[in-house]
Amino acid sequence: MAAAAPDSVAAFGSGLRAVGYLPGEATALVSFLATKLGKPILVEGPAGVGKTELAKALAKVLDRRLVRLQCYEGLDEAKALYEWNYRKQLLRIQAERQDTAWEEVQDDIFGEEFLLSRPLMDAITSELPIVLLIDEIDKTDQEFEAMLLELLSDFQITIPELGRVEARTMPVVLLTSNNSRELTEALKRRCLYLWLDYPSPEHELAIVRLHAPELAETLARRIVEVVAMVRDLDLKKPPSIAESIDWARALLLLGADDVSPEVFRSTMSIIVKHRTDLDIVAERVGVKLGMAAA
Ligand SMILES: Nc1ncnc2c1ncn2[C@@H]1O[C@H](COP(=O)(O)OP(=O)(O)OP(=O)(O)O)[C@@H](O)[C@H]1O
Ligand SMILES: [Mg+2]
Repeated sequence: MAAAAPDSVAAFGSGLRAVGYLPGEATALVSFLATKLGKPILVEGPAGVGKTELAKALAKVLDRRLVRLQCYEGLDEAKALYEWNYRKQLLRIQAERQDTAWEEVQDDIFGEEFLLSRPLMDAITSELPIVLLIDEIDKTDQEFEAMLLELLSDFQITIPELGRVEARTMPVVLLTSNNSRELTEALKRRCLYLWLDYPSPEHELAIVRLHAPELAETLARRIVEVVAMVRDLDLKKPPSIAESIDWARALLLLGADDVSPEVFRSTMSIIVKHRTDLDIVAERVGVKLGMAAA
């Protein structure tokens, strides 16, 4: 059974922390308001800052099932909402006796049994309240966004052959975007907006320590410092929280006790993943670390 939503911003914050998600101030506030006002949350920000993870955490806090629609270029209603199971319909028609009237067959093959339900349909028809994650909405085109708008405003759809399907419960909806295209004003207007950026050093330290608890605090601090240094450079792809965590775990496995210039050189590909970025980082950060060590 779904749990009652926490009753204050602070309670929401503790709820998220309790399930392993360390929210910033705005995150707890927006999550609280979204559940109370029944509005979708639009989360934007660079890669790997915890957008998808927030939806998973919300589902845990609210004790609801997470229904996830992963968006991609060319995603259409048939893959997002529903489509008719043509094969099964065909088999059904073939199995009919020759003399059955078409009307009879038609009534039969456009029933629920022949519907392939996709994530959005699954979300609408769910008997228990859910959290709906529409991940990377910016990858789809504007037509898809328009369809989604309609769905998000009244949570019902009409299937021509079957009639109207209405949601039985109100889902908590979270949409994420990496900003690869500007979303429409119409969509933004309907959502509460949450911008997730790279965290402050203290916040990131807490996240890294949560994911790599065995790591010494001094080394964790050093990792966060160096990552911040790397982010300050003008890179194609700055390291995200996900990469800080990977790096922390790697250094733990390797038994490193400091980020020496050697350790940095041999492991920096864990946080920097572009050929040209690697050159810049090796030169600029490598030199700084060397000076600090000398
Ligand atoms: N606030 C946080 N508390 C705990 N863990 C976090 C937090 N933010 C990020 N993480 C960790 O960072 C990793 C990356 O997060 P996530 O996959 O949600 O990023 P994303 O923003 O969805 O990235 P992308 O845009 O690439 O999909 C996750 O494994 C998650 O555990
Ligand atoms: Mg994601």
